[in-house]
Amino acid sequence: MDDRQSSAARVNVTFKTPSGELREIRAAVGSTLMEAAVENEVEGIIGECGGSCACATCHVKLPKDWFERVGPPGDMEINTLYFRAHRQATSRLACQIVLSRELDGLHAEVATD
Ligand code: FES
Repeated sequence: MDDRQSSAARVNVTFKTPSGELREIRAAVGSTLMEAAVENEVEGIIGECGGSCACATCHVKLPKDWFERVGPPGDMEINTLYFRAHRQATSRLACQIVLSRELDGLHAEVATD
């Protein structure tokens, strides 16, 4: 078993979907939050551009404490988020969040736009 498949290399992530459902998934360390969501068919996360920060179909809103731990978006991400109607101060693009062990327990709300 390689490191990506072992339980030690996975973290728990919880999504609140647009339907209000809480989806807790196990995701590989080193994958992006978008990849984990798409792999687990989380409602509302499409990942249309494949993670190149161009489509915003992976828009999530983080609770303030998690936003501070994950960190702010970069310039390109800010530009992509700019026209999202439901953008908030804690918005991020899930494709730009690489999961690390430090992000075990991450919560993210799937945006509705
Ligand atoms: S998958 Fe397109 S911006 Fe994230």
